[in-house]
This record gives sequence, structure tokens and C-alpha cells, in this order.
Amino acid sequence: MAMGYSDRARVTTATTSRLPVGTAPPVRIGRDAPPHGLLGLLPELSRDALGLLTRCTRDYGDFVRVRLGLTRAVLIGHPDLVEEVLVTRNHDFRKNLGARRLGSLLGNGLVLSEGEFWLRQRRLMQPAFHRQRIGAMAEAMVGCALAAAAAWRTGEVRDVAQEMTELTMQIVGRTLFGTDVGEDLRRIRNSSQAITEHFRSRLFTMLILLPDSIPTPGNLRYGRAVRDLERLVYRITTERRASGQYGEDLLGMLLSACDDDGRGMTDRQLRDEVITLLLAGHDTTALALTWAWVLLAQHPDAEARLHANIDTAVGGRAPTAADVARLSYVEQVVNETLRLYPTAWVIGREAIRDTQIGGQPVARGTTLLMSPWVIHRDPRFYDAPDEFRPERWSDGLAGRLPRYAYVPFGAGQRVCIGSGFAQLEATLLLTTLAQRFRLELADPSQPVEPLPVVTLRARRPVMMKLSARPAAS
Ligand code: HEM
Repeated sequence: MAMGYSDRARVTTATTSRLPVGTAPPVRIGRDAPPHGLLGLLPELSRDALGLLTRCTRDYGDFVRVRLGLTRAVLIGHPDLVEEVLVTRNHDFRKNLGARRLGSLLGNGLVLSEGEFWLRQRRLMQPAFHRQRIGAMAEAMVGCALAAAAAWRTGEVRDVAQEMTELTMQIVGRTLFGTDVGEDLRRIRNSSQAITEHFRSRLFTMLILLPDSIPTPGNLRYGRAVRDLERLVYRITTERRASGQYGEDLLGMLLSACDDDGRGMTDRQLRDEVITLLLAGHDTTALALTWAWVLLAQHPDAEARLHANIDTAVGGRAPTAADVARLSYVEQVVNETLRLYPTAWVIGREAIRDTQIGGQPVARGTTLLMSPWVIHRDPRFYDAPDEFRPERWSDGLAGRLPRYAYVPFGAGQRVCIGSGFAQLEATLLLTTLAQRFRLELADPSQPVEPLPVVTLRARRPVMMKLSARPAAS
């Protein structure tokens, strides 16, 4: 291991056996990670974030103080501490600097806003994500998947990350904003690449302190990418306003609030909410689907079970929201993919006052990092944690786990507003596409490595070969 921690580790080992259902083994308050030079562990975080976070929890404990550049941080590795930060003491925290750095893109939209303002916006949008409303979107989700599949041919090799991104973007456009983004996809693709590059070079380096307003070539590229997305947002909102009818979808709700009396939203706020939902609403799900295809290709037994479940539950017909209850193996594949590849791989907060976590003092300004990647792969909570075993979810594991040991969608009041949407979408898309195609890695000898930026991507394009599957009648 790069840091040689293990020989110096002094953490108490926990026992996982014979604990009451849903109880976590005891928290191991660790000791501070050594300072490691001028920038602390920042260079290592930049080089290998997933490895560093995993090693710190394993070798130092569940509450580990580290220095990341100028930032004092604590790495949290235990579900009980996650609960304290995100649920019981959530009022002592706001989003951390890394998240706030997305402000030049997402503005003061739902992911980044805070306090009373956030609560008002969340309450405004929550009804659009009600179970029934989401269920009614199933047909559009499947329709988009069928259109994508209609363009696929046996023998073709496609970049699956890109395919899934375009598909989920179409679905968000159609279901939340009632628009077809087909023609905008090329522009969106270029913008997304520029934006990913921008944050990749900044998030875990001292460049995080460099304002986006300084006209470096990178910042200029980024600025253009953001303006491209804003043009799309502007098109979506003006089209709807011009139609004279707002409708009852999410965009309708936002526009009505916008044109309310004095307390309504401003146009700037509308831009922030729409861009936030466009991006948060497609990228994480697209990446989850990409990882699911990779894992299925690498585990033919699981793929065969998936096919068997689909063939029995829906045969060759288009799946509906009502079928999901019978698509249990497909759901298990989604759960297990989000366990191994939680596309929101780190959740960060910053203390806004002096507080404590796990009985340890946490000074105002301290950053707390919680990584679903680390917690989901911890052998204290999961058997054979690195193995892809969708069936582990078949016999009530979710109810037996410690409460916050599975947190792909976060927890507490800032829990993902789109979790139901994403789970339905992932299940329906996997089903619709797997009815028609098998996806094999074009080069199975090449490992598919994760790249943690804002979300957990694959380091290189995920090229997969398509072969038609006779749709079950
Ligand atoms: C597999 C897919 C998804 C994953 C893994 C995911 C993950 C997350 C996580 C972990 C958070 C909490 C972040 C924090 O506490 O700092 C979050 C928040 C959020 N997500 Fe998702 N998400 C997914 C899909 C979606 C979809 C489909 C939408 C919208 C349609 C969406 C919209 C949002 C929004 C608006 C927030 C901020 C909520 C708030 O603070 O009130 N997400 N998501």
C-alpha cells in the first residue's frame, strides 16, 4: 500500500457476528492519518481517491482526521456516523467546498441550495416525484429505450456509456420537461465532456481554489460548455411559456412558481433548478446502467438469471411499472450495481458550527467525507463484499443491514429526490434492452477501471459488442 499505514494502524477490530438485526458493529474511532507533506493527503486523493478512502477506513478507523491541502477533513467510514452527519446532526452542516464548487454550473438549484430556501424548493418539487407520478412515466421511459434499441444492430460495437447517457437524457427531457432533446444531444455530449474535464482537473487539487472567472483556456472552455447547456434550458422554458399552458409536470410546477406573486422564483432560479435536474436526473443513472452492463457481461451466470427473470415476467412485451414487482432479479442487479459502483461515490459536508460526531469534537469549517464506495465494500457489513452477487438482495438483506450501510442515494433530508425515478428507470431500461440484446465487452482482457470525478465514471469509453437476443414471445 502506498502509504504503508497498516503497520501503524491501531484500531480495534469489530465483530460482525451475533449482532441484532439492523445493528452495526461498534464504531472504531481511528487515529489521525499522518500529515504527509505540505498538501497532506491531497495529492494521493487526486491520484487514487477510491483506494485512499478505502485504506484510511480499513487501517485507521471510522473517524479519521486528515489534511487535504488547506482543508481539515474527517473521513467517515461507519453507518452510525453517517446517520449522525446526515440525519441527527444535519443542521450543523452544509454542503462541502467540493460540492459548492459545482455552483458555477448548478447555481442555487436543489442540489446546492441550503436552509429555508432549499426547503421551499424541495416542497415545491416533491409532488413531481410522487410514486404515482413516476409510475405514469414508465411508458415514456420504455418508449425511449425501444427507440434506442431500434437503432442497434447485431455485431455493432457501441460506446455504452454514451448510449446510456443519451438515453437517460432523452428520458429526463421527455418525462420532467415534456420536450425532445434529440437534436441537442451532440451539443450536450460536448458540454458534458468539457465539464467533466474541468472538474477532473480541479476537484482534488489546489486548483479547487481557482475561481472559474479567471480566463484560463480551461475556464473559457468550461464557460462555453455551461452557456451551451443554458441555451438548452432557455429553449425548454421559452417553448413551454409560449405554449400558453404550463401543464402539471415538473416544468409546469416550476414555471407556475416562477410567475407567482412576490415570493415566486426568479428566472435565474428557474435556470438553476432546470439545469440541476437535467444533469442530476440523467448522469448518475446513465453511469449506473453502464456499470450494470459491464458487470453482467463479466458474470454470465447473473446475465442468464436476468434473462430468465425477464422472459418469465414479461416475455417479449414492453414492461410496465406494474411488472416491476415481478422483475425482482433485475431489481437485485440494480441494487448490487449501485452497491459496487455507487455512482454518487462520495457525499461531503462542512461543519457550520463547532459540533461533534461519534463523541469526537468537530470544529467549524471541517469537511466530512462519507463514501458509499467504502461503506458498501466493507466486510463488516457485507459478505464477500467485492463480489457481484445480485442474489444477496433476495432474502431481505436490505432489512437486516445496519440502517445506513447502503446509501447510494444518500440519507436524511437531503436524500436524493429522484431515487424512485432512477430505480424504476434503471429496471425498465435494463429489461427492455436485455429483451433484445446481449452486450459483451469488445475487449474482455481490458479491465474497466472506475474514474471518480463528480460521479463514478469509467476511465475509458466502454466499448461493447451487441448481439440480438430473440425476444421471448
Ligand atoms: C442512480 C441514480 C442516482 C444516484 C446514485 C443519485 C444519488 C444522489 C445522492 C447520493 C444524493 C445526495 C447528495 C448529498 O447528500 O449531498 C442525491 C441528491 C439529489 N438527486 Fe440524485 N441520484 C440519482 C438519480 C437522480 C435522478 C433520476 C434525479 C432527478 C430526476 C436526481 C436528482 C437529485 C437532486 C435534485 C438531489 C438534491 C436533493 C436535495 O438536496 O434536496 N437524482 N442524489
